[in-house]
Amino acid sequence: MTGLDFNEEPACIKTRELVEEEFDAKRAEGKLSRAHDFDHIVAVSNFAGVTARALMNGQDYDDMDYRASVLGAISGNLHDYHREAKETESHGPISAEFFKKLWVSGDMDMDTNEFDSVYRAIAEHEASLPENLEIFGSPIGRKQQILPAVIAFSLKTGDVILEASGFRVLERRAFFVGKERMLHGDLKEKFKYPEESDLAVIGETLRRLYGKLPIDSYPDWVKDYGEKLHSIQYLFLKGLLAHREFTEEEAVDFLEKRGFPRFEGIKDKVHAQRHLDGKHFPDDKYPVLSEEIRKTLDFSLSKIDNLAVASFNLVSTIANAESPEEGIDSYKEVGIQNPFRDMFYEGMSGYRKGSEDFVHGFETNVTDAVRRKAQNK
Ligand SMILES: [Fe+2]
Ligand SMILES: [Fe+2]
Repeated sequence: MTGLDFNEEPACIKTRELVEEEFDAKRAEGKLSRAHDFDHIVAVSNFAGVTARALMNGQDYDDMDYRASVLGAISGNLHDYHREAKETESHGPISAEFFKKLWVSGDMDMDTNEFDSVYRAIAEHEASLPENLEIFGSPIGRKQQILPAVIAFSLKTGDVILEASGFRVLERRAFFVGKERMLHGDLKEKFKYPEESDLAVIGETLRRLYGKLPIDSYPDWVKDYGEKLHSIQYLFLKGLLAHREFTEEEAVDFLEKRGFPRFEGIKDKVHAQRHLDGKHFPDDKYPVLSEEIRKTLDFSLSKIDNLAVASFNLVSTIANAESPEEGIDSYKEVGIQNPFRDMFYEGMSGYRKGSEDFVHGFETNVTDAVRRKAQNK
């Protein structure tokens, strides 16, 4: 079983069609959250399916991997079914009720245990990762009832871990910060669109990277991968800073003077911690992240130039596009051939499309980590 084969299952096709219809209708009424549009559903569903398969295969439940991937993907398709841009109640439980209706009507072709796993994963998906652990227990090393924990953690991995870091963040930030917030939001009076889109993206990236570290709450079996994804933001930041010939400290001072919003405390942290100098993250706690940041210290000047051009062009191309998707497409052809551009492009589009390379990289990393964790139990 490889790739995204589970998407061919009738129940996966059906649920994806249903959510697409629902989202089209909501979008037409202006009720859809733009950051949680259909592309979010596709990515969450694909990677929930792949995570479920990795959790099973890493523990040698080879007879359960396919069904788990199907159930993971269905939970991804439906988890935000009733989400609205302006919420008055949480959307997990009501989305789970929608799924229940489909199951009761006989459309889902799954047994009670399978139904229950998907239902609960959707109903509880707004809980944090630590809360998830309390509700479902670990999906690793269980003697029985493995399915509910596997589906719940697979959904959280797709919905939170993969969406919070990595290439996904680059396209979102370039578009939502570098365009939307500058044209219609809190950055409107402060920065000039599109000439200063890269500055706004630097500001938000500093704010995020020096805020709470999301990796700290990740389960062990997806922490290496999470660190790897997180390091992509540092690479991108390094490129954007190099393009403006700023150090991190110079950037934060400059942006604070320009009134970048919600910057309280960030300036002091940047001056004290200087993440890009490679000494902040301890090797024993963040082995992958610290290693990836340190690697950038040895970059040659021409490599830094390439990174600067690739990072800056990413922001300017996507910030000038009608949608992130369109921006990613044009980015592929922007500027001269450059390994960082290719890497950013492959990452952004590979994640969205669930390309074979992207899925394979993620799946082998997580399967191996699950295996190591299961053997240590
Ligand atoms: Fe949600
Ligand atoms: Fe979601």
